[in-house]
Amino acid sequence: MKNFKNATLCLVLILAAVYNLQAQEDQKILITIDPESDGPQISRHIFGQFAEHLGRGIYEGVWVGPASAIPNTRGIRNDVVEALRELNVPNVRWPGGCFADEYHWRDGIGTQDERMARINASWAGRPEPNTFGTHEYFDFLKQIGANAFISANVGSGTVKEAADWLEYLTAEGSSLALERSRNGHPDPYPVAFWGIGNESWGCGGPLTAEEYLTELKKFSNFSTNYNPALNTRHIAVGPDGADFAEYTEVIMNAWSTKSWAWNIGGISLHRYTRNGWPPNIPASGFDNQQYANVLAETVGMDSFISENEKIMNRYDPEGNVAIFVDEWGTWYAPTEGTDPGSLEQENTIRDAIVAALNFNIFVRHAERVRGANIAQMINVLQSLIITKEEEMILTPTYHAFRLYVPFQQARRLSLAYNSGIYAEGNVELQRLDAIAAKQENGHIILALTNLDPVRSVTVEVMMKDRMLKQATGETLSAPFMDSQNTFENPEQVKPQVLNPRMQNGKAEITLKPHSVTVILLN
Ligand code: AHR
Repeated sequence: MKNFKNATLCLVLILAAVYNLQAQEDQKILITIDPESDGPQISRHIFGQFAEHLGRGIYEGVWVGPASAIPNTRGIRNDVVEALRELNVPNVRWPGGCFADEYHWRDGIGTQDERMARINASWAGRPEPNTFGTHEYFDFLKQIGANAFISANVGSGTVKEAADWLEYLTAEGSSLALERSRNGHPDPYPVAFWGIGNESWGCGGPLTAEEYLTELKKFSNFSTNYNPALNTRHIAVGPDGADFAEYTEVIMNAWSTKSWAWNIGGISLHRYTRNGWPPNIPASGFDNQQYANVLAETVGMDSFISENEKIMNRYDPEGNVAIFVDEWGTWYAPTEGTDPGSLEQENTIRDAIVAALNFNIFVRHAERVRGANIAQMINVLQSLIITKEEEMILTPTYHAFRLYVPFQQARRLSLAYNSGIYAEGNVELQRLDAIAAKQENGHIILALTNLDPVRSVTVEVMMKDRMLKQATGETLSAPFMDSQNTFENPEQVKPQVLNPRMQNGKAEITLKPHSVTVILLN
């Protein structure tokens, strides 16, 4: 009898769960945007890139050399430049990463036969020809229309070496400026961001927070930008995920009572979606649980930023020092058959969802997060582009960046919705993630991510105190949760035009499973 009762109870609970799921599936999610809620500006620099001398990131990914059969302009491949121009790339962080703290800028200037070949000790001990150096980097930036974000060598360099590099780049009238001119660039270069080291607690050190602070003050004091066209902001090294949290505390404490002799405009945070070490998450061929785990780990970015914000708010309530999440992205098991030291991995629609979730988190913290750089741009980790000799594919992550271009410099708006739940095993996440913003021209944009890999979701969008007249958009979805673009099938995952249904001043949209959608509302 007892068993019968238990079995009946179980059946009732299962039916209730199925019913609930069904009800959730059928229920529309209403999103109300407040068009007058002008929030902070979303810095375009949160859509920054990172290109390190690592594997095929620079060599082949960007640089093929002027003599290459691959179409190029002064050695920089044209297909990649054309693709990146679409993204309005705000800045490219270079030359590393760990490589930055072993990079000596003089090895990479002068005629090509004067370049110093070295060993890239950080990345698989590969030869580093230094054929891509300072002038090639700025040529690349010019071709794609981006700003410079240079990480200076603190770990194995000197204060003088860094100071000379910034003088070489930005001065007029000095011997270093003349040398730059002889090397083909009479005009000073604009340098938007000057990173003082990279991961100084690890590959760029290893230094304790206090030891790093001593270096930071000296490097900041003597690294001078002489080019009045652009104010260079110094970016200090900060923590990595849950580790080295004391960096933020020590640096901000010192900053709050600092003398005129040094300053910083930002602290760097690093956080990867990675499950321990060595990287072991499969990049493709994963199951529902592995899909959910990656998204769950990604949304941990939110609390990581909040914890650092709390510390910074104590010392800098006005928000003068920004957060730069200058390394983020997925770090999976390497692609089969590749050198694990090259950090090559496949990129699926799941990565586009990861990108969108991170963008949304940065936007929600736009008051403090004013820069972020995906790791990395081409052929490395969660890359936007993958090349194979003269061929190139755009990854789902690339398309997520392209969809979010309208958010650059827009103002965040408040919005209200009941996201629903997407659950898998012990993972429970919001089913829908959304942000809205107003562009300078008054247009309103809305980004919608359906995290659920199985169920589509219908949303109804309305504007507080206004009738919506028109809506157009694009959506990025895919047949499977691990669909990807390949050299055989390069356009399997790409945005499609979406025309929301308009009714009674509202827009109605059905979002496919595991999809990212951006719509423009009028
Ligand atoms: O992006 C790969 C590496 O990850 C970077 O070189 C380093 O800064 C981080 O640990």
